[in-house]
Parts: sequence; C-alpha cells; structure tokens
Amino acid sequence: MAVDQLSIRIRKVKNSRLSQVDWDNLQFGRLFSDHMFMADYIDGAWTNLQVLPYGDIPLSPATSSIHYGQSIFEGMKAYQNDEGEIYLFRPEMNHKRFNKSAERMCMAQIPEEVFMSGVKKLIELDKDWIPKDDDSSMYIRPFMFATDNFIGVKPSETYRFMIITSPSGAYYNKPLNVKVETEYVRAAVGGTGAAKAAGNYAGSLYPAKLAREQGYDQLIWTDAKHHRHIEEAGTMNIMFVIDGKLITPSLSGSILPGVTRDSVLKLTKDWDIDVEERPVEVAEVIRAIELGTLSEAFGVGTAATIAQIKSISCHDIDYTLSDPAGREVSNRLQNHLNQLKRAKIEDKFKWLYKVV
Ligand code: COI
Repeated sequence: MAVDQLSIRIRKVKNSRLSQVDWDNLQFGRLFSDHMFMADYIDGAWTNLQVLPYGDIPLSPATSSIHYGQSIFEGMKAYQNDEGEIYLFRPEMNHKRFNKSAERMCMAQIPEEVFMSGVKKLIELDKDWIPKDDDSSMYIRPFMFATDNFIGVKPSETYRFMIITSPSGAYYNKPLNVKVETEYVRAAVGGTGAAKAAGNYAGSLYPAKLAREQGYDQLIWTDAKHHRHIEEAGTMNIMFVIDGKLITPSLSGSILPGVTRDSVLKLTKDWDIDVEERPVEVAEVIRAIELGTLSEAFGVGTAATIAQIKSISCHDIDYTLSDPAGREVSNRLQNHLNQLKRAKIEDKFKWLYKVV
C-alpha cells in the first residue's frame, strides 16, 4: 500500500480556532489544533482514512478498550524554524515502537504509510498551529484503541487509530525534585513496561500522587524484584553524569526505549564522552552524590526533552544536586537538540524529516 494510493477523506473546519491561541502562555497538552486523523481497522484492513475537525467521538459503552485497556500511544513533535520549514525528528522510530507496542498488546499493526500520511496531512493542514520559539513545538499524539463492542476478555478484532496535535510549551518548566520509589512498581520484566501502553501510565498515578503530596515532582522507578536498580521516570528515561561518564540504565525489558534516550546516547558517543549503558544501582547513585562525583542528573524524553533534576530523595533523605545552570553535558545536549530539531545545525545522523 503506497502513500499516494492511500485515499484520505478530508473535511476541514468551517471556523478555525487559531485566533484564540495565547502563544505566550502555551502549556503542555491542553490545547488541540483544528483537525484530527482517524482510521478504522475492520476485517483485517485499515479503512475509512480521514482528516476531520477535532472533536468528540461517539463510543459504545461496551468498547473493549475501556474495559480491558488495549490502548497504546506515541509522542512525537513537529518543529518550525524562522524560515517556515517544518521538521519531524526520527518519526520512523515512533512508528516502529508503535507497532512493537501493538504486538505486545495483541493489537493490529499499522502500516508506515498510514501512520506517516496521517501525520503529514495533519501537519500540512494545521501548520499555522506550530509554535516557532525554541521552547515550544507541536506535540503529536498518535494512538490506537480496541473498538469491539464486547465485554468478554479477548483481543479485539477492530481498532481505531487516531492522531491529534497540540501546540505545546515545555512539559516541565523547572528543575525537578524526584523521589526514588522503593515500594510501588511501574513494570516488571515480562510485563508491558517496554510498550507505550496506556495502562502503564494509569498504574503510576497513585504512587506519583503520594509523592506529590510529599513535595516531589516525579518518581524514579526501580526494578520490581528488589528495588535495587534504577529504571526510568515514567514520563522520561533517566541519565546521570558520574566521574565525567554518562550513565543510563540499559533497556531491561521493563523500560521504555526512548527516542530521545537513543539520540542522546548516539550524540554523546559522537562527542567522545564515555557512555555506559548498564544496570545502575540506586546505592551507586547515592554514593556518587555523597562523594561529590555525580555532577548531573536529568530525564530525557520527547515531551520532557532534557529535564534537569535538582534533588533526589531516597529512603526519606533528600540529596541536593549541583546547580542545573552549570551542567556541561545536559545543557550542551539541550542546546544541540533544540537547534538540530529546527535544522539550524548539521544533521549528521540524518534524523530530520522535512514535512513542509
Ligand atoms: C512523550 O514523551 O511523548 C510521552 O509520551 C510522555 C508522556 C507521558 C507525556
């Protein structure tokens, strides 16, 4: 199925909401552009491909994803530079991960042509919704959910794939106080932690709420068996600079394989920074803070970009880290990625995908 053979029905909005956007106060994920993309998987094929005005969708109360959680998503961004060029960053990785998530959740695969033509059509139609400043972008949320009207437990035979877009500011707008979680679990090896499955996020809400009540912004999840090894932060992967080396947990099977994580590892290796991708013990990180050898801690993710961590709490002890403003590796990464995603510097790894 080639892209140009796909027929996408397009129904445009009569009155755009663009003039109501407060560009100086963009938050993350609260405002949605004029149009959305939708396709249905019926009888083993994707059909009814359409772009239509953003809005509510009718659903049967028996829709199986509501009951049993066959629901996955992706997070991507579109960037616009001063010349009006629009770029996506490594979108093929999002498509591949989407299908891996679908496989794990026993859902239909989505052809690259459907995924990419949906993204491109939406971006072309709503390009005026893409912010231009370095701190903002158009967040793109592809997602798929089971649509059988049946409440027996089995994989659905029908699915809906949708894409919505949202001009967004930073996910985190200040350095974070995080807590190492040693009671609750995000994911266990053999579970669904490496998939971008909606239920992974649902299960994280209660422990995150408890942490927020104690004054923390986010959790660092640890392994499900012994709470000994660091995993990820739920909305982002996590990295440390210890003794000048960039250290991050290896993909254990219960960690989401982030696109930003992969890009950061490739960039830092290219900059001749020592990189270690391996199991990272909580005790090792705490020891490094105490010894003064941990110089940086930060999260990496599409929504989060590079999110500085200013304090880590573990077993009720709060450890304050170095001033985020003076951190060499993470600030260099932040600046580099900001410029690269807008094609302001050389795209050495050919990561950019030009849309318009
Ligand atoms: C992303 O980084 O795109 C994500 O999906 C994280 C999300 C939970 C905000």
